[in-house]
Amino acid sequence: MQRTLIKHAHSSSSALESILIQGWVRTRRDAKSFSFLEVNDGSCLENLQVVVDGSLPDYANIERATTGASVSVTGKLVESQGKGQSWEVIAGSLTVVGESESDYPLQKKGHSLEFLREVAHLRPRSNLFGCIFRVRSRVAYAIHKFFQDQDFVYVHTPIVTASDCEGAGELFRVTTLDMQDIPLQEGAVNYSKDFFGRPTYLTVSGQLEAEVFATALSNIYTFGPTFRAEDSNTSRHASEFWMIEPEVAFCDLDGDMDLAESFVKYLIKDTLEQCSAELEFFNRFVDKGLVERLNVIAERPFVRVGYTEAVQLLQESGQSFEFPVEYGANLQSEHERYLTEVHFQCPVTVYNYPKEIKPFYMRLNDDGKTVAAMDLLVPGIGEIVGGSQREERLDILDANFDNHGISKKDYWWYRDLRRYGSVPHSGFGLGFERMLMLVTGVANIRDVIPFARTPGSAEF
Ligand code: 4AD
Ligand code: MG
Repeated sequence: MQRTLIKHAHSSSSALESILIQGWVRTRRDAKSFSFLEVNDGSCLENLQVVVDGSLPDYANIERATTGASVSVTGKLVESQGKGQSWEVIAGSLTVVGESESDYPLQKKGHSLEFLREVAHLRPRSNLFGCIFRVRSRVAYAIHKFFQDQDFVYVHTPIVTASDCEGAGELFRVTTLDMQDIPLQEGAVNYSKDFFGRPTYLTVSGQLEAEVFATALSNIYTFGPTFRAEDSNTSRHASEFWMIEPEVAFCDLDGDMDLAESFVKYLIKDTLEQCSAELEFFNRFVDKGLVERLNVIAERPFVRVGYTEAVQLLQESGQSFEFPVEYGANLQSEHERYLTEVHFQCPVTVYNYPKEIKPFYMRLNDDGKTVAAMDLLVPGIGEIVGGSQREERLDILDANFDNHGISKKDYWWYRDLRRYGSVPHSGFGLGFERMLMLVTGVANIRDVIPFARTPGSAEF
């Protein structure tokens, strides 16, 4: 007999003479002459109730069907007598596939998120994490659907790279050199002896390579892991996270902001439609205002405000911020959140930042002072998208390399894109986990990644 996922059992349109379900026991309740098992197989939030009658030969197995055990049940799917459940299974056979030792950590009582992080290998079996990871999967699918439906080509950019795209120096080194016996040349590490014959790192962004493909295939996107050795232990930073980076040829900053806005709205709408049970769960147990907030974000236009104006708004806000607000400084998370949560109370795109605080590749505006950059800020999180129009003029790009102290020689292939058929082009990066925080209401990035990597932590 073929296994039926519990999700499909619940959506059955009629009773069934025979069904096979397999999953893990959430709870067991024993009555005088029969037992109830609540079985979950992760296909949906709901358990399926199994009634095991005492007269069944397999009833001898029931003692071993404890919380956490895996079971295989055949039987009839019948209308449930109990409240709130439409279907239940009357067992014909019960096999305990794998027993669960009595110290199984996920007992019925609720557990703290901190505790569940320590059992990251078991937490997907909890209601909350089942919901989170089903949503994660669906949002990943929706990302591909959004772009594929608009003829964007999916490009796989390298994970090992020689360049520091963001120029922030937050790189994890990749090496096979013997740490006990590092080859030196004139006192410095001799990387010609290293695996790739040069210093290499885990990528912080696929953008530079994405630009190569956008200036050939026009509309492309990447979706893959990125790594940052940033020593910030916040609820929004991970050392390994996934990023989606579209790159569009013949597109300026306005087009880029339009694309980011429609992308984020699409993902929210898709989640509202496709993951309604999970969102209801989050709305009850994680963040009571979630669904309403998502509906508002999906429907209303985002606000756009220039960096200079944003700085003015912050200075005139009368708020006492931990970090001072001044023209020429990066907006801190508290500033971003004030703009989106208090002042505008909706997502805000801040654009045209001072060139000094942005990477070399951003396009210089006519004022000579700012670059065509944009950051999309959302309530509860702050920045979820960072993007820009790229500098397509070779002479200005070269000046940027000089100003940022970057060797032009190393970027010969990136410069070539400006030498052969250069075009205005733009793109952005959406942090996948930050997007998941937005749609789930989950406040810590560690809880939307299967196995989080953060400073000092890489168990599992
Ligand atoms: O703003 P960022 O650094 O932009 C780039 O990397 C560009 N090369 C993107 C591009 O234009 N193609 O990063 C983009 C987004 C941020 O807005 C944030 O959502 C996410 O990536 N992000 C992080 N997410 C989790 N943990 C971290 N440490 C993150 N750093 C950035
Ligand atoms: Mg950024």
